[in-house]
Amino acid sequence: MTSVRLRRLRQDERFRRLIRENDLKVDQLVAPFFVVEGKGIEKPIASMPGISQYSLDTLLKEVGGVAQSGVGSILLFGVPSEKDAQANGAWDAKGIVPQAITAIKKEFPKLLVMSDVCLCAYTDHGHCGLVEKNGNSDGVIVNDASVEVLAKMALAHAQAGVDMVSPSDMMDGRVGAIRDTLDENGFDQVPIMSYAVKYASSFYGPFRDAAESPPQFGDRRSYQMDSANQDEALREGLQDMAEGADILMVKPALTSLDIISQLKETTGLPIAAYNVSGEYAMVKAAAEKGWLNEKEAVLEMLTSMTRAGAQILVTYWAKDVAQWLQE
Ligand code: PBG
Repeated sequence: MTSVRLRRLRQDERFRRLIRENDLKVDQLVAPFFVVEGKGIEKPIASMPGISQYSLDTLLKEVGGVAQSGVGSILLFGVPSEKDAQANGAWDAKGIVPQAITAIKKEFPKLLVMSDVCLCAYTDHGHCGLVEKNGNSDGVIVNDASVEVLAKMALAHAQAGVDMVSPSDMMDGRVGAIRDTLDENGFDQVPIMSYAVKYASSFYGPFRDAAESPPQFGDRRSYQMDSANQDEALREGLQDMAEGADILMVKPALTSLDIISQLKETTGLPIAAYNVSGEYAMVKAAAEKGWLNEKEAVLEMLTSMTRAGAQILVTYWAKDVAQWLQE
């Protein structure tokens, strides 16, 4: 007789259910959407099978389907047709995202609508901040001027009726600036979910196809974090918390499970995990080849993020997961 038999509680489904520690819930899912200008557009993204860019009219239908599935939250990314060096489109009150926010809130008042706040889709150079040329080099990111534009962008979204803003740019001080701007304009009830820890990552590749935002020169390593760093991630999280972030986001998710759990422990704030485009693409590709069971792989991945401590899961599989959880 062995003294300890952990397997005793695994012997059948009843025991396994009894002792299961983490369950996925539909309430924690957030579905991202890419909004383009125009009409009647549904443009599939080659590197993200099942995901498309939508114009306002087709978006409303698609959002309706997601809401129907039980998913309660969406995250909007704008893909404007006009870009310039100053990212002027980013804070245009008539821009594609404010329009989408207002239309969605009108048609689906119960849905929680979040918006991405970042300049990369609005700048002609594709960087997340404004760039200053210096001499012959490509230029450097100017932090504080970028932060001003980001705050104006968040305000435009709040004025359009967004429920929560989500800055993903990684400039310093943007959470505090956005908080102040929102408060001064009567939007003190609009929370901020900041991408506190955003590693420079190859796993964002497919997203840049979807958002049409690849940097035209250089890379994002002067503002996104080095994925070798852990203490720095905690500093980023604590800084955003001090500036007034309500929820901290970590991404990519799969390669940052340690950070999710440490950040939760250190800050006590709700943590969101972004199950990013590259994580989506690799499972989709393997599943298409018959090498992985998509549903099982996805539920396992998302459960591991929950186990690590993420309360909120931003995932391109949100609608599928909502359906799978009901099966
Ligand atoms: C924009 C932004 C990116 C993602 C979310 N917001 C891309 C990037 O920083 O290059 C990535 C999301 C994904 O890969 O699904 N700043």
